[in-house]
Amino acid sequence: MRSMNYMLEIHIQLCTEDQKKEKIPDDKLEFGKKFTDHMFLMKYKDGKWGNPKIMPYQNFSLDPAAMVLHYGQEIFEGMKAYINQESGSVYIFRPHENAERFNESAERMCMPSVNKDLFVKAIVELIKIDREWVPKLPGTTLYIRPTMIATEKALGVHASKEYYFYIILSPVGPYFSTGFNPTKIYVADKHVRTSIGGTGEAKTGGNYASTLYETQLAKEAGYSQVLWLDAKERRYVEEVGAMNIMFVINNEIVTPPLDGTILQGITRKSVMHLAENLGYTVNEESIEIEILIDQIEKSHCTEAFGTGTAASITPVGSLFFKNKEYTINGFEVGPITKRLYEELIGIQTGKREDTNNWRMKVI
Ligand SMILES: Cc1ncc(COP(=O)(O)O)c(C=O)c1O
Repeated sequence: MRSMNYMLEIHIQLCTEDQKKEKIPDDKLEFGKKFTDHMFLMKYKDGKWGNPKIMPYQNFSLDPAAMVLHYGQEIFEGMKAYINQESGSVYIFRPHENAERFNESAERMCMPSVNKDLFVKAIVELIKIDREWVPKLPGTTLYIRPTMIATEKALGVHASKEYYFYIILSPVGPYFSTGFNPTKIYVADKHVRTSIGGTGEAKTGGNYASTLYETQLAKEAGYSQVLWLDAKERRYVEEVGAMNIMFVINNEIVTPPLDGTILQGITRKSVMHLAENLGYTVNEESIEIEILIDQIEKSHCTEAFGTGTAASITPVGSLFFKNKEYTINGFEVGPITKRLYEELIGIQTGKREDTNNWRMKVI
C-alpha cells in the first residue's frame, strides 16, 4: 500500500540498572513467557513513520477505541536468534525474507510498509543491546516478534490512519514441550482456518484467533496441534497451527502448494531447498486426506514433519482423523526428518557451512 522507502536513525534509550529484569535459567525457559529488557517502537502518523527508538520494555497506553482492538488490523512476524555454543556468535536466519513477508501482510491488511533495511537493522540493534538474554542451552533461542497494530482512535470499519510498529524479544525453549520428539496431530473436520480469497497467507492475528476453537477440541482429545483442511471441500491438507507440513511418501517429500490460504513459510522454503540439494525429490502437490490416511495405513507414508520458525522441524508421530489415530513410522523420528533437522539447525547455529548465504551474524 503506502510505502516508506527511507532509512531512519534509531534513537536509543537504555534501561537503568533498576529497570533490568531477572533472568531465568535456560533449562527453565518455556515458549513466549519471558521478555527481554528492551523493545523497539516506531509510530506512523500523518502518512509517515517517525521517531524509531529502542527503549526499556514497557506497556502501551492505547485508547479503548484504538482500531486494532475492534477490527483486528494487526500483523506480525516470527523469527529467531541462534547462538553458536562454541564461538558465542549470534545469528539470525534470512531476516529480509521476514521483512518482505511482513510488508506483504501489511499490503493485504491495508497497512503501511516498513523499510526492509530498517526492519532488519532494528532487530540487529535490539539483539545487540539485549545480548545477555540470548539463551545458550541447545534447543533454546531468542524469539523475535515484529508486530504492527492499528492505533487510530475511531469506530467504523476503515483502514486506520495511525500505527505502531514494534519489536519484542523473548528467550524461549522448544515450542512443543515434546522437543524433537514425534507429536500427535488432530485433523480438523469441523472448522476451517481460512479460505481461498481470505487472509490465509498474511500473518495476521485473526487467522490465529479462528483456530482456537478447534485447537481447544484437539487439546481436550489429547492432541497438541491441528492440521487444517481446505475450506471448500474439507478434503485437501493445508497446514498445521504454526507450521507447514511435509510428508515422505514412497521416499519422496510432498507438501501442499501455496494457494493463498497457507502461510508461505520461510522454513518450508529453506527445507525444500536443502532437501533437493541433499538429493531428495520434493513435490508441491495437493494431498487428499483420505489418500494420505490410506498411504499411512499401507506404510507408504513413512514420515511426516512440520516446518516453522517456532517449531523448527517437528516430527509428526500420528494423525487423528474421524475418531481414529493413524501412527506414522511406529511413532519414531524418521531418517529424512532427522537429517533435514540437523542440516537446518546446523546452518542456523553456525555449525554447518552456509552455502546459500542465509545466516546473518549479529554478534
Ligand atoms: C500458520 C503458520 N504456518 C506456517 C508457519 C511457518 O512459517 P515460517 O517457517 O516462516 O516460520 C507459521 C510460523 O510462524 C505459521 O504461523
